Amino acid sequence: MTVSREIRLKSRPEGLPSHENFELASVTLGAPGAGEVLVRNLWMSVDPYMRGRMYDRASYVPPFQLGEVLQGGALGEVVESNAEGFAKGDLVSSFFGWREAFIAPAAALEKLPRHPGVPDQAFLGVLGMPGLTAYAGLLEIGQPKAGETVFVSGAAGAVGSVVAQIAKIKGCTVVATAGTDAKCDWLRSVGVDHAINYKSCGNLLDAVRTAVPKGIDVYFDNVGGEHLEVAIEVAKPFARFAECGMIANYNDTQPSPGPRNIIQVVGKSLRIRGFIVSEFAALRPQFTKDMMGWIAEGKLKWEETVMHGVDKAPDAFMGLFSGGNTGKMLVKL
Ligand SMILES: NC(=O)c1ccc[n+]([C@@H]2O[C@H](COP(=O)([O-])OP(=O)(O)OC[C@H]3O[C@@H](n4cnc5c(N)ncnc54)[C@H](OP(=O)(O)O)[C@@H]3O)[C@@H](O)[C@H]2O)c1
Repeated sequence: MTVSREIRLKSRPEGLPSHENFELASVTLGAPGAGEVLVRNLWMSVDPYMRGRMYDRASYVPPFQLGEVLQGGALGEVVESNAEGFAKGDLVSSFFGWREAFIAPAAALEKLPRHPGVPDQAFLGVLGMPGLTAYAGLLEIGQPKAGETVFVSGAAGAVGSVVAQIAKIKGCTVVATAGTDAKCDWLRSVGVDHAINYKSCGNLLDAVRTAVPKGIDVYFDNVGGEHLEVAIEVAKPFARFAECGMIANYNDTQPSPGPRNIIQVVGKSLRIRGFIVSEFAALRPQFTKDMMGWIAEGKLKWEETVMHGVDKAPDAFMGLFSGGNTGKMLVKL
């Protein structure tokens, strides 16, 4: 018998999530049945999109149900296998979320290789979903060319930090925003040309304009709100916008008005394109090859912020909305 603690959604947040929206529960697991595997999680991911699943509304993924475990990406180790192809000690990726252990059919698990020099948890960040989001959104939608200027918001986070570095690898000038001076220092340390602390810079539009007076060719949006308005304002004609996320609005209790300068989309012939990473699943082999190469060459670096214990998952999740993380926010079990 294995006892597993898990985090369930107790109530739907109104505005910013708080502890009262989550509950800790325990379940007892038996032995895996035919074709099943018992997995103990080592690392769990907390991600901004999970906030969207806490609303009871139709979207590209169904809403979380009250009383159920929060689903999300996790990495674990096989403890007991009753399925062909899986053995004790195998590293597996799953989507069963915020729980210490679980039994699942083998078909719901993906066996991951272990790479020397790359920690397992990189498969939840730089080599996982956030990394692919950055890679696909920037290269397929942004289509940056050497010599162009790329603006990325939320740049010290899991997605943004990869976007900024791939843009540098592609020979672009990068202007990036983040919420603390320490995050901006880290961005400069990985080659970002202009790192702006959007919380302390005063007028964000002035700060971006001063940094890149000729304007931007690509905007990779993780934030929305004022950042999107600024990007439209400084966009060159025919600039490409990869609309990845709008975290500034995820806790709004009323829909917020769109960019006040949206009319410029017409005059500047802007191409503004939203996307969900699953659209680009087919790029994964190329993504993994490129990323492993850039990591080996020392061109791609990453940070992670780690909280410990399944009971800390709500704190880790809520920390995303106050900038508590540099790089990927993770929970270690
Ligand atoms: N389209 C897709 O398929 C897809 C996939 C993955 C992620 N995303 C989106 O990509 C974005 C980044 O995700 P991530 O996993 O990499 O998270 P993350 O950037 O690692 O963490 C969130 C960060 O957002 C910043 N932030 C929070 N509230 C903000 C606000 N009001 N204004 C400006 N910045 C704010 C904080 O950093 P500061 O200290 O800089 O404020 C925080 O650290 C999110 O919008 C997410 O929803 C989209």
